[in-house]
Amino acid sequence: MTPHNITHRSPSNIALVKYWGKYGVQLPRNPSISFTLTNAYSETSMQLVSRNAANGSIELDFTFEGEKNEAFRSKQVKFLESIVEHFPFLHEYGLQVSSSNSFPHSAGIASSASAMSALALCLCDAERQLTGNLQNEADFLRKASIISRLGSGSACRSVYPQLAAWGQTKHIEGSSNEYAVPYGHEVDTVFHSFHDDILIVSSAEKSVSSRAGHALMEGNPFAAPRYQQADDNLGELLAAMKTGDLEKFGVIVENEALTLHALMMCSYPSFVLLQPNSLAIIERIKQFRDSEKLPFYFTIDAGPNIHFLYPDSVAEQAKSFIDNELRPLCENGKVVIDKVQG
Ligand code: PMV
Repeated sequence: MTPHNITHRSPSNIALVKYWGKYGVQLPRNPSISFTLTNAYSETSMQLVSRNAANGSIELDFTFEGEKNEAFRSKQVKFLESIVEHFPFLHEYGLQVSSSNSFPHSAGIASSASAMSALALCLCDAERQLTGNLQNEADFLRKASIISRLGSGSACRSVYPQLAAWGQTKHIEGSSNEYAVPYGHEVDTVFHSFHDDILIVSSAEKSVSSRAGHALMEGNPFAAPRYQQADDNLGELLAAMKTGDLEKFGVIVENEALTLHALMMCSYPSFVLLQPNSLAIIERIKQFRDSEKLPFYFTIDAGPNIHFLYPDSVAEQAKSFIDNELRPLCENGKVVIDKVQG
């Protein structure tokens, strides 16, 4: 039977403990954990069609946002070639894939995690329909996580809602460098409805890619202590999240964000992705938190945009703080409103 109705939606995620540094085939040097988001997602549809050539190379027809996109297509062909051993049907069928994002392409939001995990879910669905394998939901998601990781490391965390952890650590039973594990059930419910509004300081493409950034960790003199620190921070963060200790959560998450950028600044060659308004926003959040005694925190991805984190109980105060004080520091006043996928 030819598989049909293969469509999957997968969201972006934001790391609380950061993965920065890798080895082998997309294996992390340290464990990480992230919130899975709701509004920023990719939706991908896949059809299996008969091939033009008898066998051999990948045959892919790819459209992004309804239009042919050769740059994206050739990236995906390369990726599919690298995972043929996991999906032998790629030798037997051609693929028609169409994908779109819920957020504009150049909004300053990383799209590789959502795009790669949506594609991986489609591939696993095709396998399930063709072979009858992967009927068990846990097996299905685990394979989707492994395949997502091969596409873009942090994408492996996007297949699970709420929170997902990736990377072997003594702090999480069953954790692995090869796939993420769901972690939402282990934390206080305050984190199930946490907000993450993305303050867009710049939507321009980054000057240094994540791939290059990871590679620079290999010569970074702080690499070894950093990997140890990430593991220690993870242990402390999990304890804080279990009891709903927001203050501790904030201290660790902000430390992780600034450490990530400090590592960039002390790589050889060094690079800086933060911009003056990134720092201005961080300062405003800290000042406001101290003066108003509100649980307002931030984290930062590998770019200049600031993720503003707060619990649902203070959503109203956060909205007016954003509109009055943070929006003016954003590019064209742009803020992407998001929250943890419940
Ligand atoms: O998955 P990559 O290769 O794009 O790297 C992601 C790295 C960070 O976003 C900075 C941290 C993380 O854990 O997501």
